[in-house]
Amino acid sequence: MQRVLVFCVLLTLLCTDSVRLEARSRESLNSGWRFARFGAMPDGTTRAEPEGLENGTLDDSDWRPLYLPHDWAIEGPFRDDLPNRTGKLPYEGIGWYRKTFTVPMSDRGKRIFIDIDGAMSRAQVYINGQYAGQWPYGYASFRIELTEHIRFGEENTIAVRLDNPGESSRWYPGGGIYRNVWLVKTAPVHVAHWGVCITTPEVREDLGNVRAQVELEGATAATTVRHEIRPSGSGDVVTRGEGEDCTLLVPSPRLWDIESPHLYTLRTTVLEEGNVVDVVENDFGIRTIEFTADRGFLLNGRAVKMNGVCMHHDLGPLGAAFNTRAAERQIELLKEMGCNAIRTAHNPPAPEYVDLCSRMGMLVQVESFDCWKAGKTENDYSSLFPEWHKRDIEAMIRRDRNQPSVVMWSTGNEVREQNKPEGHAVSQMLSDLVRSIDPTRPTTVGCNNQNSGKNGFQKTVDVFGYNYKPHLYESFQKNNPEQPLYGSETASTVSSRGEYFFPVSDEKHMGQGGYFQVSSYDLTAPPWANNPDIEFEAQDRCPYVIGEFVWTGFDYIGEPTPYNKDSTNLLNFADPEERQRMEKELERLGSKIPPRSSYFGILDLCGFKKDRFYIYKARWRPDLPMAHILPHWNWPERIGKVTPVHVYTSGDEAELFLNGRSLGRKKKGDLEYRLRWDDVVYQPGELKVVAYKDAARWAEDTMKTTGAPAKIDLRADRSLIDSDGRDLSFITVQISDAQGLLVPRSNNEVQFELEGPGEILAVGSGDPTSHESFQASKRKAFNGLCLVIVRSRAGESGEIRLSATSDGLGKARLQIESKE
Ligand code: GAL
Repeated sequence: MQRVLVFCVLLTLLCTDSVRLEARSRESLNSGWRFARFGAMPDGTTRAEPEGLENGTLDDSDWRPLYLPHDWAIEGPFRDDLPNRTGKLPYEGIGWYRKTFTVPMSDRGKRIFIDIDGAMSRAQVYINGQYAGQWPYGYASFRIELTEHIRFGEENTIAVRLDNPGESSRWYPGGGIYRNVWLVKTAPVHVAHWGVCITTPEVREDLGNVRAQVELEGATAATTVRHEIRPSGSGDVVTRGEGEDCTLLVPSPRLWDIESPHLYTLRTTVLEEGNVVDVVENDFGIRTIEFTADRGFLLNGRAVKMNGVCMHHDLGPLGAAFNTRAAERQIELLKEMGCNAIRTAHNPPAPEYVDLCSRMGMLVQVESFDCWKAGKTENDYSSLFPEWHKRDIEAMIRRDRNQPSVVMWSTGNEVREQNKPEGHAVSQMLSDLVRSIDPTRPTTVGCNNQNSGKNGFQKTVDVFGYNYKPHLYESFQKNNPEQPLYGSETASTVSSRGEYFFPVSDEKHMGQGGYFQVSSYDLTAPPWANNPDIEFEAQDRCPYVIGEFVWTGFDYIGEPTPYNKDSTNLLNFADPEERQRMEKELERLGSKIPPRSSYFGILDLCGFKKDRFYIYKARWRPDLPMAHILPHWNWPERIGKVTPVHVYTSGDEAELFLNGRSLGRKKKGDLEYRLRWDDVVYQPGELKVVAYKDAARWAEDTMKTTGAPAKIDLRADRSLIDSDGRDLSFITVQISDAQGLLVPRSNNEVQFELEGPGEILAVGSGDPTSHESFQASKRKAFNGLCLVIVRSRAGESGEIRLSATSDGLGKARLQIESKE
């Protein structure tokens, strides 16, 4: 007995030693999973879910091995019988993930957790056959403690059951453990989950006053806390402090700003009787934000107009499966347009997404829900709201509250409660809840009910957001002169990249569709929405408006308005003739309505720019010389016919030439945002525009009639990638004529082959109607373009060689280097 005790003490000492050195560990738990599906299966059949799938002893050797993040629905197939609004993809069903891992004896005494950044949805977690916890909301990040059931020194089995009911979303939710998963081990005394709260109560040029509040678990009278701050990434400690509630002074702080997103790192060390038992680091920024009713949004005291977009969570051909590089590319493209703000419609994003925004200088409005108690679809969040809203809001805020990019918390979008007194009470309760967790940022809701700006609902939030109500900005301001206002959703213009239909009409409502595409003259929008110009005009008339969040930055899977319903009589066409035409088209196709992804994006599902990109760029980057002509100039069937030409430019005037002949010089009028030559008669050749600003030559663009498809051109966004098994190269595949010009309207199918240490992760084209699989090695181009996404292989460096072939177009080759 005595000896055993001595041995235990020794062991404890040894363990404590290692705990001291490696107080906390956080390792990726993404690899080595096995997966099986039950319930609704991808092929439309049903598979019974047996009992006991959580058991540690279950033989799962015939389950599919895979890595996380994983989206089971993006694997397809697209099915005609599935709803358009969720992308015609089989997200519905039950999925089980199982993994074994060993926890060494030396971890005895530690607390063990699994951190899941996002699992769609209704996650239940089991460890060694025992239920450990659950988290139903598919967009929440959460932690489940495993300690009690862990077998130290042995193999452990973790099992996660997910259940995606049908009719749970208005857009494509994806399915599966679609974000990262971590195994976290701590000493008994440790910083609680997301337990460090950093605020900057006073920011001066000479001094940043940083407050660090720490929540501890297992603390004793002998527990102490130390902090130090250094510039993120490198650099010396600039200040130190002590205590669970500590003020640290940073001399001459470098402020976080969208132009210079400077970050600091706070290192928090927990000691027990002087021994280090936990260390955590949190990045933060020193900056001030203020929302005003007259001067708009102030960042570090400077008025910054929010040039924002709404973004859903999917990453196009990758589906919901999170990938940091794919998200970074989205943000890069948005920044190129001059976008400086993102609203994460209508749910909390992946943690890395917010992190990227903080690093890249992008403002973020993090949104919680698309509904409260009153639902929008049969199985949406409304049934979870009563029991879970508090925990979900807490999780959302605690996870991201140190991120300087986050400037607003949205408690909901177009909630049904806007016009009901009891709904106002819910909104008030949610705002109070948010403020109790984070008093430093305002609350907001995206409101589509016009009464919500005057019936008292507006008073339940700090900053008021109207969805699609540019005509109400003025009256809102008159009625609420003290309340900051912005367009939480604007435009909702729809277009298909490279599609143009004639005659061109200013009737915004959905006319001029063709073969389930939408014309790209950027004049088309559903009845509740607008073209970009109308929103710009309202924003310019009402300069106090904080800015806008365009619906949407990128096309997303699902909600293919105007083709968003599987019943012809529900197509959103105002024009009866148009509807008749579409009905005939459906009959001809013998199909249901094929579209499966949205037309709202400024960029398409692959991140290819639509024309609209340039009307926003012209406005949001007024100092960058730019001119953009639309449409393309390949109209053999339109010779002699009127074919309007529109130009987006950051200049104020432009002259258009067709085959060297001037078609006139035009100046933007007051509150005009595009230049139009509406009576151009088509002749093949070259269109050229010369733009002027303040009468000086400013920018040019040309659009040429091309020859027939002659070759394939490949262009990688990055030709050097990291061999970490996660990094990506996005390769644009262009169908070119002999001169290398993109051939509009070309839809050649391209086959891909890849050699070397990489794989084709996905392909796409930006065609919202295509039912081709995203997980393939061939793709039909859509209006001259398609995309290949190549991923490196973990730990394997070398040349990745991609070749592309297509009938009559020969072979194109491209090399990417994968390097450690
Ligand atoms: C809004 C809604 C968005 C999206 C959009 C399309 O009403 O909040 O989620 O559906 O319409 O225009």
